[in-house]
Amino acid sequence: MDKIKNPFSPGAGSPPPELAGRDAILEQARVLLGRVREKRPEKSLLMTGLRGVGKTVLLNEIERVARREEYRTILIEAHEDKRLALLLVPHLRRLLYELDRIAGAGDKVRRGIGVLKSFIGAVKVSLGDVELGIDIEPEKGSADSGDLEVDLPNLFVAVAEAAEERGTAVAILIDEIQYFNQFELSALIMAMHKMQQRQLPLVLIGAGLPILPGLAGESKSYAERLFSFPDLGPLSEADAATALQDPVQTVGVKFEAAALREIFRLTKGYPYFIQEWGYQTWNHAPSSPITLQITQEATPIVRSRLDENFFRVRFDRLTPREKQYLRAMAQLGSGPYRTGDIADILGAKITTLGPVRASLIKKGMIYSPAHGDMAFTVPLFNEFMRRAIPDFQSKAKQ
Ligand SMILES: Nc1ncnc2c1ncn2[C@@H]1O[C@H](COP(=O)(O)OP(=O)(O)OP(=O)(O)O)[C@@H](O)[C@H]1O
Ligand SMILES: [Mg+2]
Repeated sequence: MDKIKNPFSPGAGSPPPELAGRDAILEQARVLLGRVREKRPEKSLLMTGLRGVGKTVLLNEIERVARREEYRTILIEAHEDKRLALLLVPHLRRLLYELDRIAGAGDKVRRGIGVLKSFIGAVKVSLGDVELGIDIEPEKGSADSGDLEVDLPNLFVAVAEAAEERGTAVAILIDEIQYFNQFELSALIMAMHKMQQRQLPLVLIGAGLPILPGLAGESKSYAERLFSFPDLGPLSEADAATALQDPVQTVGVKFEAAALREIFRLTKGYPYFIQEWGYQTWNHAPSSPITLQITQEATPIVRSRLDENFFRVRFDRLTPREKQYLRAMAQLGSGPYRTGDIADILGAKITTLGPVRASLIKKGMIYSPAHGDMAFTVPLFNEFMRRAIPDFQSKAKQ
C-alpha cells in the first residue's frame, strides 16, 4: 500500500497515530495538574518503564495538557553526563523572564531572578554571554550554599512563589530521570517536599527507567510519600489491537483479527514493536485487509530492522565483558535474573562482577527491579542477545 500514507511511526519519541491504553495515566496527570493549580496536595508523578514503552510520548502529551491548563512548562531530558543544575538553569531563566512580562503587582518575580542569580553563582553554571537581568542583584544567602539539597528547594520556592504571584503554575517535566545521581535525585525530592509543605503551584512529572529501588534511606521514604510511580507496561491485547486498527481504519484499511493476534504474540504488546510491525505490514500489504500471511511475510523484515537499529545501537556501545554479562543473562530466559545465577553461568564470583554490572546500569542497559535481581531495560533484549551471540558456553556446574 501507499508508503507515503503509512500512519505508523516507529521511532524514539515519535507520537503514535493512536495513543492506546494510556487513558488512566493521562487522567491521573490531569487530576494532579488541576489539584496543584488549586493548591491542593497531590503526589507528583514519576512514570517508569522499559525502553520503547512510550514514556517520552506520554511526557510530551502531558506537557500539552499542562499548557492547556495554563501552566508554564519546562521539559528537559537528562543525560549520562550533564548535571541537573546545568539543565535547569536556562529554562528557569526563560520562565522567570516570561513571568516578568505578565502584568501584575508584587516583587516575587524579581526576587526569583535574584535567587536564580545566586544559585548560578553557587553551582558555577556558565551561561556564556547571556545576561541575567542587568538591574537585579543576586539575592545573597538564598540558594547559594553550594549544597544542592538545600539550594534547589530554595530555588523552587522562589520560582513557584513568582508563578503564584502572577496567577499561574509551573510544570517541570523531566525525561530519562534515572541519569541523575543520588544527590540530584534527592535534591529534587527535597524540593518537591517543600512545594507540598508550602502548597506552592509547582509540579514535577518525570519519566525514566525504574529508580526507586536505587534510592536509599531518607530520600527513599520521602520519595514514596511524595511521588506516585506508575509503571508503564506493555499494552494489553485489546489496546494493542486499537493501536493498530484505529489508525488504518481512518483511511479505510483493516487488519484481520488473526493478523492482530499474531502481532500481539510477537510484540508482547510493547509499543515500539507495535509501531514497527504496523509500519512494515502496511508497506508489505498489496491492499486491505492486512492478513495473517502478510504479517508472517513481513516479520523477518521487522526483525532485521529491529536488530539493525533498536537493538544494535545499544549492543555496539558495549565492551566485550559487558556483552558476555548480558549474554549470560539471556541464557537464563526472560528474567528477572538473580545476580548469583548470572555469576554461575559466567563461572565467576558475584563480587568480581560488580564493576561490569555498574557500568551496564550506567549505560541504561540493565536495572535492578529488586535487591539482588537484574533485568534488561530493553524489552526482548534477551532474544536479541541469543541471536547476536549464538555460540555461548555456560560455565555453570550442572
Ligand atoms: N500508547 C501507545 N500506543 C501506540 N504506540 C505507542 C504508544 N506509546 C508509544 N508508542 C510508540 O512507541 C515508540 C516508543 O515511544 P517512546 O519513544 O515514547 O518510548 P520511551 O519509553 O520513551 O523509550 P526510551 O526508553 O527508549 O526513551 C514510538 O514509536 C511511539 O510512537
Ligand atoms: Mg524516551
